[in-house]
Amino acid sequence: MNLETIANIFDSISGAYDKFVGFISLGQNKKWHESIAYELKPGNMLDIGTATGDVIFRAFLKNKINKAFGLDLSIKMLKIAKEKLKGKPAYLFVGSAEYMPFKDGVFDNVSMSLVFRHIINKDDMLKEIKRVLKKGGRFVILDTTKFVGMDLFANLSKTALKPLGIAIFGTKNWDFFIHSLENSLSTEEIQSLCESYGFRLLKKKQFIFGMVGLLVFEKL
Ligand SMILES: C[S@@+](CC[C@H](N)C(=O)[O-])C[C@H]1O[C@@H](n2cnc3c(N)ncnc32)[C@H](O)[C@@H]1O
Repeated sequence: MNLETIANIFDSISGAYDKFVGFISLGQNKKWHESIAYELKPGNMLDIGTATGDVIFRAFLKNKINKAFGLDLSIKMLKIAKEKLKGKPAYLFVGSAEYMPFKDGVFDNVSMSLVFRHIINKDDMLKEIKRVLKKGGRFVILDTTKFVGMDLFANLSKTALKPLGIAIFGTKNWDFFIHSLENSLSTEEIQSLCESYGFRLLKKKQFIFGMVGLLVFEKL
């Protein structure tokens, strides 16, 4: 798997993405995005893997930020985000989390929702996030996490849910979804990785029986 393959996969599902996440999360995705918005400090934000821009959209709805920057590998996702964020002070960039086109210490908040497990080089990304965040800035991660029953869910995705998944999203995309689900880390693993890069945990929360975790850090 490389960055180009990931960009192509997300380009190819961009049109159906919001519906897909709504379906697979049983409509919880909007609440998760709101809970990220709730944790943000006043100021600006960078949303990594912003895709259709929903995290940024909800942060503006909640009046939590004054300016937003979205970064993603997928141009087609960002085209949808551009429409969703029309009229808002939001700036969208095509690029990789492992090498970001931003100056040092410019962001009050960095968020990433349902992206952490897709990142190929997490070490490079965490160095970059540390570089672009201000001291005391917030770093909010939401992602699927290892949970009791993960194996069962992955098996269901490979069996009972598979025909529906393939019919809607195609074989390649459905297989990638299962692969990325199986790549999820536990909240403890995410926490210790981020702490090793100089982030201090402020809050940890779990949703739907630990299938999804929210971790809030500050840059020391
Ligand atoms: C599952 S979507 C998450 C979208 C959105 N944040 C949400 O919560 O619904 C993952 C997004 O991360 C992007 N992505 C994956 N790896 C990336 C990387 N290394 N750098 C930037 N974006 C990346 C993909 O292109 C995709 O749009």
